[in-house]
Amino acid sequence: MKRIETRYVCQTCAMEAPRWEGQCRSCGAWNSLVETPVTALPRAARRGATSRSSLQAIPLRDVAPGSASRLQLGIGELDRVLGGGVVAGSMVLLAGEPGVGKSTLALGAAAAAADRLDRPVLYVSGEESPGQLQLRADRLGHLVGTAAERLHVLGANEVESVVEAARRLRPTIVIVDSIQSLTADDLDGPAGSVGQVRETAQRLLLYAKGEGVPVVVVGHVTKDGSVAGPKTLEHIVDVVLALEGEPGGAVRLLRATKNRFGSTEEVGLFEMSGDGLRPMPDPAELFTPAGEARPPGSAVAMLLEGSRPLLVEVQALVGGGGYGPPRRAASGVDLDRLAVLTAVLAKRAGVGIGSHDVYVSLAGGLRSREPAIDLPLALALASSIRDRPIASGTVTGAEVALSGELRPIPGLERRLREAARLGYRRAIVAASLRPGPEQRPGRTAAPFGPSELDGLRVVAVPTLRAALDVALERPASSPERLTAVPVESGSQG
Ligand code: TYD
Ligand code: MG
Repeated sequence: MKRIETRYVCQTCAMEAPRWEGQCRSCGAWNSLVETPVTALPRAARRGATSRSSLQAIPLRDVAPGSASRLQLGIGELDRVLGGGVVAGSMVLLAGEPGVGKSTLALGAAAAAADRLDRPVLYVSGEESPGQLQLRADRLGHLVGTAAERLHVLGANEVESVVEAARRLRPTIVIVDSIQSLTADDLDGPAGSVGQVRETAQRLLLYAKGEGVPVVVVGHVTKDGSVAGPKTLEHIVDVVLALEGEPGGAVRLLRATKNRFGSTEEVGLFEMSGDGLRPMPDPAELFTPAGEARPPGSAVAMLLEGSRPLLVEVQALVGGGGYGPPRRAASGVDLDRLAVLTAVLAKRAGVGIGSHDVYVSLAGGLRSREPAIDLPLALALASSIRDRPIASGTVTGAEVALSGELRPIPGLERRLREAARLGYRRAIVAASLRPGPEQRPGRTAAPFGPSELDGLRVVAVPTLRAALDVALERPASSPERLTAVPVESGSQG
């Protein structure tokens, strides 16, 4: 009997090998090669991919300007990340870990679009039944107004039937949840395999470009970011949106990691609540108010997500331990960075954490790998071990070098203005001892000593040790309190 011809396809990067190998030669993934029958791709699927008439090169300036008409979906935080709305005929990938809220966001976007626009919206669900969807949409209050009649759902898994249904309905936008649940009938291989994901996406793309209808596809991403499907999709789609957040936390960050029609600097903020994903145009409400006294171990960081400043509380708890290896646990910050800062604190600032257990976390379930988190993290650790709070109304932000020196962070002024707007009164930042190489464009070093910005006193210090002295000094003995700080309550007097 004649064996059917097969190849081994890497599920991570789609590299093909003639025989099985333990590790993919192209991307290095282990155990990722899956035997896949070789199937000739149907001609029909490729129809329209190339057109002979466009084979003549013309000067760029003579190209008819593409009128990228944008469709605002009606969820501000989403439209902002898209660059002002979704572009007609474009394809958007909404990627994220299971349970992060992709379906919730996608359904919300579908309902909002159905409410605003005067044509139907098609929501294709390959994972939940239309009945389940109706329950959810109803619970989240999506089935009101015009959305109730314009929001159409289709429970389907076969891509051609999806395209056919879309051609019949002629919607303003198609949302597919998820690409991993779709298959192309004429292809072998299970739903979610690289071959299926690529092929179904290609056909949706043909539909999108052909009809000028935007298509949003949801794609699951695994924890370690090694994405069977979506990695190969990133090259196909025009926009990749990543929805991120710690499972336990309430905050969800939406970022464009690729955007052919806009900046990748914009970040959208949402809060996962009992009644769905709530957009947070002003994240101030999420964090402890500036004037409130904080317990020891708490510091406020000035982060910058894209072009958006975010003031976030860093919490540290140092204590216990003593026998066995100390425990180090971090949520939202890098464990390696925590280890480095612990060492720098001991060696350069005389704050030994030794064999104590250390737990740190970022409020709201946010994650940050920004160097700007160094100083607040180190101060929170020191504040916890000395059991002395940092005065309320203080924000901090600087990179901590191994030498214990502080380094300025990019976009400092933007961060400071946000802190001032939210009512903070004192910022501890880096004063560069050595101007020169440190003074690259985009890195603003504050002038040495205190200065002021929108009512915020900016205290620039050169080292971690100096920052500790300023931050943890008892309020009564603080020389700064003798100057122009407004008297806000008797609590510090
Ligand atoms: P979902 O959108 O189904 O995630 P995904 O499609 O990315 O897998 O969201 C699932 C999680 O969101 C689930 O753990 C419950 C939570 N959730 C809420 O907290 N409130 C809500 O109103 C909804 C719809 C979901
Ligand atoms: Mg889902």
